[in-house]
Amino acid sequence: MRMRTRGHLEERLESCLDMTVTGEGPLTLPHPLHVEIGCGKGDFITETARRHPELNYIAVERVSNVIVLAMEKAKAAELKNLRFIRGDFAAAAERFPDGSVERIYLNFSDPWPKNGYAKRRLTHGRFLELYRRILSDGGEIHFKTDNRELFEFSLATFPENGFSVGEVTFDLHGSGFEGNIMTEYERRFSAMGVPICRLVAKKDGGDKSARAH
Ligand SMILES: C[S@@+](CC[C@H](N)C(=O)[O-])C[C@H]1O[C@@H](n2cnc3c(N)ncnc32)[C@H](O)[C@@H]1O
Repeated sequence: MRMRTRGHLEERLESCLDMTVTGEGPLTLPHPLHVEIGCGKGDFITETARRHPELNYIAVERVSNVIVLAMEKAKAAELKNLRFIRGDFAAAAERFPDGSVERIYLNFSDPWPKNGYAKRRLTHGRFLELYRRILSDGGEIHFKTDNRELFEFSLATFPENGFSVGEVTFDLHGSGFEGNIMTEYERRFSAMGVPICRLVAKKDGGDKSARAH
């Protein structure tokens, strides 16, 4: 079964070419634009794009046999406002002009629990610097995770890197929050009884280095 669903990867990627952002160099982007980094199999971003035809979405995912499932879902739903970038966000970020993104979604990002791998966490200062550059003034990062350690790490890194943190909850599903769209990982962890953490980090105005001194 697994073979059949994931089979013919190259052909399937090819048939989703019209769902991808192509070309090289700086991107010409629609506005307003929301970006999900690490979209996995795409349940969250396809449903979000379906509910908001007035907004534009780009989903970035580096694993080919996962992003192909997301692209196939978006294609089947005939979503005109969602496109995909296959590859690592650190490289893709270079193509986004300054201030071109209104919102970034980070959903269940890999926690990289060992301290030696902290730089790989998508909420490490190294990535927050990239997000600050591509986000518009007042732009936001919406972050959900099941991983308490990653969440607490992020509660520290956002303010250290020019973001104000709000809407913090350690139990999203018990918090009364309305309109939540579940991801594949969220469904899996909440079925196991693991509480889901969520926050919104808003880009502060001004120069981060100037404020730090
Ligand atoms: C734990 S999964 C969560 C998937 C999905 N967001 C969900 O909640 O079900 C994290 C995903 O992020 C992707 N990812 C991690 N780092 C990435 C990066 N730097 N660029 C693009 N994708 C990345 C991984 O390949 C993986 O599919």
